[in-house]
Amino acid sequence: MTATPLHDRVALVTGAGSGIGRAMAVAFAAAGARVVACDIDAAGAERTAADIADGGGSAVAAVADVADEASVAALAETALGAYGRVDVLCNNAGIMDTMALPADIPVELWERVLRVNLTGTFLVTHAVLPHMLRQGGGSIVNTASEAGIRGGAAGAAYTASKHGVVGLTRSVAWAYAKDGIRCNAILPGPTMTNIAANAVFDAAGAARLGPVLALGERMAEPERMADAALFLASDAASFVNGAILPVDGGWSAA
Ligand SMILES: NC(=O)c1ccc[n+]([C@@H]2O[C@H](COP(=O)([O-])OP(=O)(O)OC[C@H]3O[C@@H](n4cnc5c(N)ncnc54)[C@H](O)[C@@H]3O)[C@@H](O)[C@H]2O)c1
Repeated sequence: MTATPLHDRVALVTGAGSGIGRAMAVAFAAAGARVVACDIDAAGAERTAADIADGGGSAVAAVADVADEASVAALAETALGAYGRVDVLCNNAGIMDTMALPADIPVELWERVLRVNLTGTFLVTHAVLPHMLRQGGGSIVNTASEAGIRGGAAGAAYTASKHGVVGLTRSVAWAYAKDGIRCNAILPGPTMTNIAANAVFDAAGAARLGPVLALGERMAEPERMADAALFLASDAASFVNGAILPVDGGWSAA
């Protein structure tokens, strides 16, 4: 890869106010991209955009709820209004469940986790795809999870939502391969972010999942996820489409 593999590209990153999304936004800006840093948390989005600008990069903050169709429509307008195009989309915003097993998860929590993690990924993709088609190409990187390919790495709702993200990734990759649009997913292993900070764990689910989660060799820095996303977003991955890439230090190889 060149030093600035995203030179002059426009990258829209959701969940960019914290953790993996923030690391992606910063890495993409350092790689030459103009960044739309989206988050439901205005302060987080603004902090990421300001830090990029302080470092000499170009970024705008966009406050949006990926689970809300009108909010996502406004997000697409903000991105196009700021930079005129979207070359890279990272669907990264996500929330955890409580690790609750299928019999125990409250229906409202199931619906909220599916809405943010899966429908949110769909809504932003759905809003951005027409612009990528008009431009003649683009690269979409979805943040799934090891829970997108395994049954015992999270609670029922999160697991189902991330399996859905993997399926949507393959659907988009297949549907638009002839249009120059690639769509891939990363599967982060345990990563040092804020995602678990406010989670209240279901005792039975946490006890059942504990042995699997303990297999992780070490927690990753969010920058390791950004490294993989940058590769997938860039032309270095120009023939990589529909890939579901574990980024977990070998955890899922066990
Ligand atoms: N941290 C891990 O161990 C891990 C492992 C596997 C997958 N992931 C995935 O990585 C992604 C990023 O999570 P993270 O670990 O960086 O967590 P994080 O909580 O640090 O960051 C997530 C960001 O998403 C934002 N967000 C949440 N709901 C949103 C919504 N409806 N609309 C817009 N923004 C919203 C939050 O405000 C937050 O800034 C998630 O999809 C998560 O499922 C994380």
